[in-house]
Parts: sequence; C-alpha cells; structure tokens
Amino acid sequence: MSRNVPDESSCLRILREAGCKKRVVVHCCTVGAVAEEMLSKMDADRRLVIAGSLLHDIGRSVDNGIAHALIGSEIIGKMGFSEDLVSIIRKHIGAGLDDADAEEMGLPPGDYMPRTIEEKIVAHADNMVSDNRVVSHRYSVEKLMSKGAVRGAERMESLHRELSKLYGADLDVIPCAIGEYPKLKWISN
Ligand SMILES: [Fe+2]
Repeated sequence: MSRNVPDESSCLRILREAGCKKRVVVHCCTVGAVAEEMLSKMDADRRLVIAGSLLHDIGRSVDNGIAHALIGSEIIGKMGFSEDLVSIIRKHIGAGLDDADAEEMGLPPGDYMPRTIEEKIVAHADNMVSDNRVVSHRYSVEKLMSKGAVRGAERMESLHRELSKLYGADLDVIPCAIGEYPKLKWISN
C-alpha cells in the first residue's frame, strides 16, 4: 500500500523546505539509487521504499546525532504522511537498535528495529552508502566493530544475508552494478 506517501519530486521539495544541506540531499538520493537496485530484484512497495530512502535523513536538518532518525520521523509524521513511512525513518539506524541500544544512546523507549521489507531495504541501503559513495556493507560493519558495537555489527551481517538471499546475489555487487558514484536521477550531482 502506498497510501499517503509523497512522490519523488515532493520528497525533494520536502527535504529542501526542511533546510537539508546539499550533502544530505545527495546522500539521500544515493541511498535511493541503491534501494532502487535492490527493488529491481525484490518484491516490495516501491513508492514507500523510494520515499523512505529520500527522506530517511530529513532529521539531519535539525540534529546530526543519533536522534536525527526520531526527529525525522516526527517531522514526517506531523506532515500527516503514512505511518509506514514514519516507521522507516525512525528505524533506519544501522540494522536497527534494540532496547538496550536505544537506552544507551539516550533515545526514548520505542521500536527502532526494521521489521517490514521496506524498513529493511532502506536501513540496509543506507548501510551501503558512505556520504555520497556506494560501498560494501563491510564498511559499515567495520565501523560498528571499531566502536565495539558487536551486536549491532552481527545484526547488520544478518540483515545483509537476509536481503542478499531475496536479491538473489550478494548485495555487495551493488557498488559494481550501479557504480560507486551512481547517476542520481532526482538531482544533478
Ligand atoms: Fe541517518
């Protein structure tokens, strides 16, 4: 269902009006390109995944810390958009946060774990983008390991395996398939 989910050009307008920096917009569009490649071989709600990808970091217009996911979900929720879209944004950190992670990070209690296929695709497409570059998921796993976030790293490996199975190949082919700096159809980059 794509009820009350903004189309692609509306997402770009919403990002601009929220005051997101160009760098954030480029990052979001790059995540959108990775998600689109995943969608080419997976069964999911395309409109929801693309809107989730394009808007996942809208909260960075307010805060660049871990709270940006929650803040972003509140911004989109207040605009009256679909709860499915709101959840994608709230749950996009890594491969999700469990209750202990959320508490440790000072987030209010809530569900921060991607559960639907659309939530999983957006979270993991984001794991495969560093700033404006498409990377292997190893990049994000190693970043978590270097911070001592072992459970988060294991969760990311497991999400990678799960989605790779649905994609029909290891998702780490994506940087090769679409290029490390893919052409972004939503903006000129
Ligand atoms: Fe983010």
